[in-house]
Amino acid sequence: MKKILLTLLLLTTAFCAKGQTAHESVKSPDGRMEATFLLLDGCPHYQLTRDGKPVVALSQMGFLLEWRDDLAHAFVLKEVQRSNFDEVWHPVLGEEANISNHYNEMLITLEQPVGSIESMDHSTETRPTVMQIRFRLYDDGLGFRYEFPMRYNGIDNALVCFWFKEELTQFVMTGDHTAWWIPGDYDTQEYNYTESRLSQIDSLWEKSHEHGGWPWTDFSRTGVQTALQMRTDDGLYINIHEAATLDYPTMHLNLDPKTFTFRAWLCPDAAGYKGRMQAPCHTPWRTIMVCDKATDALRSRLILNLNDPCALDDVSWIHPVKYMGVWWEMISGKSTWNYTNDFPSVKLNPEPGNSQSSILNSQFTDFAHAKPNGTHGANNANVRRYIDFAARHGFDALLIEGWNIGWEDWYGKQKDFVFDFLTPYPDFDLPALNKYAHEKGIRLIMHHESSASTVNYERWMEKAYNLMNQYGYDAVKSGYVGTIIPFAEGHYSQPINNHYHYAIVEAAKHHIMVNAHEAVRPTGLCRTWPNMIGNESAMGTEFRERIHPGHTSILPFTRLQGGPMDYTPGIFEPDMGKIVPWGQKMSHTICNQLGLYVTFYSPLQMAADFPEHYEPYMDAFQFIKDVAVDWDTSIYLYAEPGDYIVTARKPKISSLNKAADGVGNLPDGKKGVISSAAQYVYGLKDPTSLTNQTPRDVWYIGGITDETPREFSVKLDFLTPGKTYDAIIYCDGKDASGLPDNSQFSILNSQFKYNPYSYTITTKKVTSKTTLKLKMAPCGGFAVSIRER
Ligand code: NOJ
Ligand code: CA
Repeated sequence: MKKILLTLLLLTTAFCAKGQTAHESVKSPDGRMEATFLLLDGCPHYQLTRDGKPVVALSQMGFLLEWRDDLAHAFVLKEVQRSNFDEVWHPVLGEEANISNHYNEMLITLEQPVGSIESMDHSTETRPTVMQIRFRLYDDGLGFRYEFPMRYNGIDNALVCFWFKEELTQFVMTGDHTAWWIPGDYDTQEYNYTESRLSQIDSLWEKSHEHGGWPWTDFSRTGVQTALQMRTDDGLYINIHEAATLDYPTMHLNLDPKTFTFRAWLCPDAAGYKGRMQAPCHTPWRTIMVCDKATDALRSRLILNLNDPCALDDVSWIHPVKYMGVWWEMISGKSTWNYTNDFPSVKLNPEPGNSQSSILNSQFTDFAHAKPNGTHGANNANVRRYIDFAARHGFDALLIEGWNIGWEDWYGKQKDFVFDFLTPYPDFDLPALNKYAHEKGIRLIMHHESSASTVNYERWMEKAYNLMNQYGYDAVKSGYVGTIIPFAEGHYSQPINNHYHYAIVEAAKHHIMVNAHEAVRPTGLCRTWPNMIGNESAMGTEFRERIHPGHTSILPFTRLQGGPMDYTPGIFEPDMGKIVPWGQKMSHTICNQLGLYVTFYSPLQMAADFPEHYEPYMDAFQFIKDVAVDWDTSIYLYAEPGDYIVTARKPKISSLNKAADGVGNLPDGKKGVISSAAQYVYGLKDPTSLTNQTPRDVWYIGGITDETPREFSVKLDFLTPGKTYDAIIYCDGKDASGLPDNSQFSILNSQFKYNPYSYTITTKKVTSKTTLKLKMAPCGGFAVSIRER
């Protein structure tokens, strides 16, 4: 019957070459969602409903092209293919060990017949233009993308190399929804979120830029970035984002506030193009997640599912990383990245080690004879101090920034040859420090700040990765601060997105894991390239007092939908005035920071503060030691964007000690190291070896709140019935408050004084029948670790 219908359909299309009207639908596996493709007078559209009610109203699809007629009209429907898919896959690192990927698919093939449009070679074009649209409908959302085959039905596609001027995809909202948004920008995502109605975006545009990052490049007063989280007045949670953005510009959204219509707004390249395509090719997925509850949005794996399976045959070298860093010192102003104050201008030798180099015919800066400024953080003694602390407390790794020459004039100077990524400062003994770290069971994490000169980074990349291989580094933090070079490119244009991907692929060849800061926000590519273990790409802890309360309860709905974030939690001394005279107070309590280790997913997780800031609070620091960072199961208990999140997670045993095992395999590495999280999970007092040990049943619970104090009842019904567990409960003290006294964020309870240091730690016998009552102070949180007896 289906076949007859299809034949009929194909016949109809043959007779109706212009102005054709048709519609085809696909339902989600549970039947609640329906996506409909509509061809209206030859113009492609779609709409989306849930339980019969519109979520996305009739929305336009297609493209404007350079040198050629638009891909937006004169289409006829050639073919509709349907299929379904149901699998469970296992991420290398993730929020859960088993991910269900279940969807119904509809592939629409459209053709602009010969003669119906103007082509590049107008009169001579003898081939039809073919564009396909693939819809995948899940129970929790829709993904669709445009595809351009090289041939269709044995005939070459007229589209070979083509250039997009605009993507026309619309997302027509059905009302003035509440949204959590950051302003559209070609260069930064480092903003606080604004919560407002869609109709207020225009009037809040200036305010939305306060405290944000630099450089910023806006395009519209109603432009916003994705992932964009919204809530309808009926309580539906809608999230627009994209998945698998490769060889394509990043999609922002521009709103027409009169009709609540978002249109895709791609980040242009230096020439103004918004996608240079060569068939066969396709766009990224455009995604619309739809959930009844906020907790379901956190549970959704829509973005990951729309990415391709793992591209790597061997993933044995990829592991979770809990790390510390010679980093907060520089961010806080206590120490500096640069080694000397002698040089207002640094010129690097393009052939390090070759003193005769004349490539640039220049005098090269001589660091060997420079006067140290005495504030350089990455010096041998200080690095050893951090290694000692990190090793003593069972961490996996230590990041060191400011180890390499060039930091004297790296920032805001738009230099091409800004760093060589090879030459250490005179007081950083790279071979000796790596050896020292390995002998204590720790890896060093490499730092490559490109200063946004992607040209220079690519120039050195192979040598830099080789250096890492030579000394046993297996993770790099890269960075893209400043104006992108090549000039006139933005941070999220197609060529620069390709650079970030190139760095990941090249790193994989060297068995290197990557954590890129200021790079494009992720779109689930860590499924395909699991060596992408982290990204910043949002406002992280480095913004200190500029971070608004509630920020960390929005990020898991937005930025983290695409992949983990290196948020760098763990600041136990939030009063930065105690470090430098100009420092100000950050808005969080110590327990809030503990809660982040569970509410924020990242297989690369930092304890960002100084050792001396942890020393007075070692009992609270114990939670950071005990907590895992890679998960078997995650349960999202309570959540509301901008307000609070409460999450419970069960660690994945197989990766718990993988980092330590990896160090043990290095020629100079200490064998038999057991990480602090493994010690907790296995309940080991005197760690010797994990062989013949049995892991206990362990769970962690984390909670965070904004400026409003809250209390939650957490039922432990996810524990195994019949087993008895010991819980350690880290809670804000009665007098705790993370809200600075002069904060613009008022709270109902004005009796709280800024006291981020107050907490209580209680132990309790619990079972699956226990309910815990957990209180959070303003800007507070809690953490609980639970281990089977
Ligand atoms: C910005 C990064 O986000 C930060 O973590 C880093 O320390 C600086 N750039 C310097 O690279
Ligand atoms: Ca940053």
